[in-house]
Amino acid sequence: MSETFEATVTAPVNIAVIKYWGKRDSALILPTNSSLSVTLSQDHLSTRTTIRASASFDKDRLWLNGVEEDIASSKRLVNCITTARKLRAALEQDDDKAAPLSKWSLHVCSENNFPTAAGLASSASGYAALVSALGALFELSQSTSELSRVARVGSGSACRSMFGGFVAWQAGVSDDGHDSLAVQVAGRQHWPELQALVLVASDKKKAISSTAGMQTTVETSALFAERVRSVVPKRMEAMQRAIAERDFGAFGEITMRDSNQFHAVCLDTFPPISYMNDVSRSVVSLVHAFNAARNRVAAAYTFDAGPNAVIYALSDDMRDLVELVTHCFPRDDETTPAAFYPDPFQIFASADQVGQRLTCPDVAQLAKAVGKFSPGSVRRIIHTEVGDGPR
Ligand code: DP6
Repeated sequence: MSETFEATVTAPVNIAVIKYWGKRDSALILPTNSSLSVTLSQDHLSTRTTIRASASFDKDRLWLNGVEEDIASSKRLVNCITTARKLRAALEQDDDKAAPLSKWSLHVCSENNFPTAAGLASSASGYAALVSALGALFELSQSTSELSRVARVGSGSACRSMFGGFVAWQAGVSDDGHDSLAVQVAGRQHWPELQALVLVASDKKKAISSTAGMQTTVETSALFAERVRSVVPKRMEAMQRAIAERDFGAFGEITMRDSNQFHAVCLDTFPPISYMNDVSRSVVSLVHAFNAARNRVAAAYTFDAGPNAVIYALSDDMRDLVELVTHCFPRDDETTPAAFYPDPFQIFASADQVGQRLTCPDVAQLAKAVGKFSPGSVRRIIHTEVGDGPR
């Protein structure tokens, strides 16, 4: 039997706080603006990819969540593999003891632990896992930032999933894309109190893909030009400062404003694109009501190309936020397992609150004011935190 080489990697999801939307080069996936994201814990959201190389394989094959797909039909996937093979071929040229893996076919097997294409950035964790696994299999010596360029040609946002913690994708200016890559702004331990609550409003496939939607925006939205020219550069600086200083007030306000502007440019696209639904808009109102009651920015929402919400908050506020959210968006006992919703009383802001089952007065009042949605409007709630990069 011929020798087989194998690597398995898991990679995280990231949620942007300054959004990437628009390409200046669609083939190389070069963005119109820089973006910045938070990597979420792989305990709750991740993609696991195993790649095998063997001289006995007759062609490249791919299995996604257990189903075989036609690898050749995904140009982006082929691009990633081809780029990684070239890097391996260069290594083999310098080291004549290295096995000729660059010439062998690959079997790629990839699985998510969450629903695909539900606006939960599955392409980001997917391509980050693929490229990290190729890097490990081929024993590539490139740095993580250099490998992020390979993940970028799979899906733009994937380059940010190559790191844990807080990650910037620098747009770059060159035509060949060598300076368009991800850099870590701060590690996951930098701000341990920062947590995230993912509200899955729908797990149906989205109507307009990000890839198609963003190019219509580039071509038709006048607001978008202003966003790229003057808004994003200032926000990138302010956001990096907010993270460095662990200033949740600034972090939260910029996050909400940038999500709102991204959805505003989607509506300014012609024909307009609308990703948020009634549940999404109610989450916006609920977070603003929560912040008004606390007289500060205590929670911040953000939405990608779908109706699901991600709400960032510090651990001291998270328990109350979960209590409010689970009250206003009750679980549908018939269709949703209890494990799909977190128990607010399991989330303790500090050790001396363990066992307390008291509701903060403003949460009870707020729940009355915000109102209740029909059970099942939110199908799943994931309480998570900042996570590490590919393992
Ligand atoms: C709204 O990375 O999915 O999530 O590069 O065409 O694959 P392609 O697009 P993709 O777009 C993500 C857009 C976003 C914002 C973000 O993650 O920054």
